[in-house]
Amino acid sequence: MKFAASRLNSVKPSASAWVSQAAKDAKARGEDVIDLGLGEPDFDTPDHIKAAAHQAALTGETKYPPTGGTTRMKAAVVAKLQRENALDYGPDQVIVSNGAKQVIFNAMMATLEPGDEVILGAPYFGQYKDIVLILGGTPVSVTCPAGDGFRLTPEKLTNAITSGTRWIFLNFPSNPAGAVYSDDDLRALGDVLRDHDQILILSDEIYEHILFDGRRFLSFAAACPDLKDRILTVNGVSKAYAMTGWRIGYGAGHRALIAAMTKVQSQISSGACSIAQAAAAAALEGPQDEVRRFCAAFEGRRDLVVARVADIPGLTLDPPGGAFYALIGCAGLIGAKTPDGAILRTDADVTSYLLTATGIAAVPGSAYDLSPFFRISTAASEAVLTNAMDRIAAAVAQLNLSESELT
Ligand SMILES: Cc1ncc(COP(=O)(O)O)c(C=O)c1O
Repeated sequence: MKFAASRLNSVKPSASAWVSQAAKDAKARGEDVIDLGLGEPDFDTPDHIKAAAHQAALTGETKYPPTGGTTRMKAAVVAKLQRENALDYGPDQVIVSNGAKQVIFNAMMATLEPGDEVILGAPYFGQYKDIVLILGGTPVSVTCPAGDGFRLTPEKLTNAITSGTRWIFLNFPSNPAGAVYSDDDLRALGDVLRDHDQILILSDEIYEHILFDGRRFLSFAAACPDLKDRILTVNGVSKAYAMTGWRIGYGAGHRALIAAMTKVQSQISSGACSIAQAAAAAALEGPQDEVRRFCAAFEGRRDLVVARVADIPGLTLDPPGGAFYALIGCAGLIGAKTPDGAILRTDADVTSYLLTATGIAAVPGSAYDLSPFFRISTAASEAVLTNAMDRIAAAVAQLNLSESELT
């Protein structure tokens, strides 16, 4: 009996979820595992946000909410975009969904025709590709190497655009590389896109608040205001407020696009959980000091990992500009021989060696369409990260790097 439709053939389950499951399985077997696979803050949701959810439940906010978001949450998003991003949107230009992921899914479901091309700068958040594939679009992966700071350049964007291009996805600070764009970088991309008015731009700004070295965040729609009608700004509370489990994300864009996305959502999930929306509104409206505290902690951990990687032969890491990941280059390990005599041929070989040899769960760069790298999450305490880096250093020291059998 065949259950899965053919549209699922090319779709893979999320690599970081797969790695975390492998880590859980190893833990269940009694192995000592440090799971650096999953992308979620290790902090707890701040108390005032939890209190808002409690209050909402007690005061009867327990009915179906409006499909596109509660009045309060939409107003909180409108005020946030105005206050923090200098972007003016009305409530009818905003949708609230079950996480940023659903915002992206809704947008693709609402707009993609079969075969429409979507430009993704690799390395990219793996789900982008799978969402596009599941909806019959064609992902177009553009390699953005470490030498370019993992950024999409105007030249590469120009070369990737065809008459079939429907969307381009931008994400900064990025998952998995922590890539950041200067204001001029954003404007230069805008200059290319200005000439192609069939292209919509999805700007995933979910790591906006996790930005290091004193950088200031500029929204793509604020960098290129004349393109605003073609931009869908995607954001959410998962990362900034340690609210991954509450599942609230939001999008802002042209009212016709938002209306189409809301129509999609009405047939899938209806409005996002009313209580979680009350919590998310409190997050956006309330004090922001916890967000700053989280960011400072992530920056300290970034520094720790960068310093440790610099001392490990075969690994490379330029300091990520934001987010809570380190995409570590492992070209120097490819071809190395493990103590068991196996040869590490790919970054997936490297991550499975790290898991079996030292209990470190990391995600191979192939999951983000750029190899050879592996991603570790830095959303773990400094003690855990120090232990993890000790283990990685010890595992690499056990490799025979000189006896490469690859030609
Ligand atoms: C770049 C990026 N966008 C979107 C998401 C999804 O976030 P949410 O929890 O709001 O669905 C993630 C989560 O890992 C992400 O890394």
